[in-house]
Amino acid sequence: MLKKTAITVLMLGCLTSAATLGQTPHSLTIDPAAARDTISRHIYGQFMEHLGRGIYEGLWQKDAAGNYQFRQEVVAALKNLNIPNVRWPGGCFADYYFWKDGIGPREQRPTIVNNMWGGVTEDNSFGTHEYFQLIELLGTEPMVVGNVGSGSVHEMAEWWEYINHPGKSPMADQRRQNGREQPWNVRYWGVGNESWGCGGNMTPEFYANEYKRYATYLQNYGNIRPIRIATGPSDSNYVWTEGVMRDAGRMIDVLDMHYYTVTGDWGRWGSGTQFAEREWITSFRKALRIDTIISRHSAIMDKYDPRKRVALMIGEWGMWHDMEPGSTPGFLYQQNTLRDALIASVHFDIFHRHADRVRMANIAQMVNVLQAMVLTEGPRMLLTPTYHVFDFYKVHQGALALPLTLEAGTYQFEGTTVPALSATASRDRQGRIHIALTNIDPNLASTVNITINGVRPAGVSGRILTAAQMNAHNTFDQPDNVVPKEFTGARVSGESIRVELPAKSIVALELR
Ligand code: AHR
Repeated sequence: MLKKTAITVLMLGCLTSAATLGQTPHSLTIDPAAARDTISRHIYGQFMEHLGRGIYEGLWQKDAAGNYQFRQEVVAALKNLNIPNVRWPGGCFADYYFWKDGIGPREQRPTIVNNMWGGVTEDNSFGTHEYFQLIELLGTEPMVVGNVGSGSVHEMAEWWEYINHPGKSPMADQRRQNGREQPWNVRYWGVGNESWGCGGNMTPEFYANEYKRYATYLQNYGNIRPIRIATGPSDSNYVWTEGVMRDAGRMIDVLDMHYYTVTGDWGRWGSGTQFAEREWITSFRKALRIDTIISRHSAIMDKYDPRKRVALMIGEWGMWHDMEPGSTPGFLYQQNTLRDALIASVHFDIFHRHADRVRMANIAQMVNVLQAMVLTEGPRMLLTPTYHVFDFYKVHQGALALPLTLEAGTYQFEGTTVPALSATASRDRQGRIHIALTNIDPNLASTVNITINGVRPAGVSGRILTAAQMNAHNTFDQPDNVVPKEFTGARVSGESIRVELPAKSIVALELR
């Protein structure tokens, strides 16, 4: 076995150098004069559900004395990502959650059986107040999803009042009794989750009516006006977008589409770590579909909202693998390799291209669930390769998207073809240009000549994320297998920048 792996590595090494030697450089042309759209910082959002060890244990843990505490090291790592918002409490759990069970003295709160995920009994110690404490610790913005599937209009309106009412009101008074004087001023409010599925199995027409009833009672309080998020489609469910936009579009501010990259099929997703090149290219082929899917949903939205007032949000996205062997059923705990990292960067490049319509997105999920930023095991923690992509890309938050033309050919394997490279560029508020390049090809390095029309770069610096193996990942014993390194393969050459991009890598550049 060892011998076979070594030979494979050697062969890949030969392929890389042979192909690099004979290759014509690819070209990336950036056109700042044509820039129009700002990249909303809210596409870098996170998602945290009552699911597995995402909240309990991953973020919220009992200390030796039996008191709950936030895990400071996890919070500190997440804070570094400049997270713009955190979506909570679900996901499917949102349509199952009764918020009043999660307020008041913790020892008096009833328990809840989380029938959505693993059937475990939760003690409701993490509720509304704890969520907002975390929001403050992370310095981020809240995004709450209300219960449409099994709750009532009245109950959702009361939660909104409890959180946001600034003056005297029954719910605001209860909030004060529970120790919080000031309202939390939440703007982003989800009216249900996946209402076509776990959120109530509704038709688009039925949901549109329900949406209007629920949304009506999210009243303005003082300066606080709700940004109302409607359940959007899953994948290519264009019928959903059509029906909901047609019947309720005028009352919607954000439409929340979900898209997961599944290498295999639902139920047999495929291993997160044990895969070969067939699975590698299939993952990219499937992830890249989101570009067309966004375009088609956006075109439907254009019919009802030509001025693009309604944002398209990708409220759940990322790779969904088989659960890690030995992990608790229903907890959706998976590892995260270099493949996940490249899939994340490719998503961001696509979101940036659709910056006019895609103005919010939340990867699923923040800690210990699906394509997470952070994994924990007992007292230990690791940062995943995906974490580092969020770190690389945070410079694009709120920056001006720079249109680009990439001529880079394709990467093929056994009859499947995908683009070999992906790229994005933006200019931040200080005027600095940032470029990210992803080499999807796991075998061939690439030379890219970058030209920025009207700009003569004085210098360039960068970081790279790559590894020798496609499935390289960080473990609790070896947490630094896949970590960013300084990138020395870019240099200014006349008017352009020449980049030597290793196979299966992400490079983030900053120009001087
Ligand atoms: O992220 C896991 C689950 O996937 C969410 O609860 C649900 O909204 C989606 O189907």
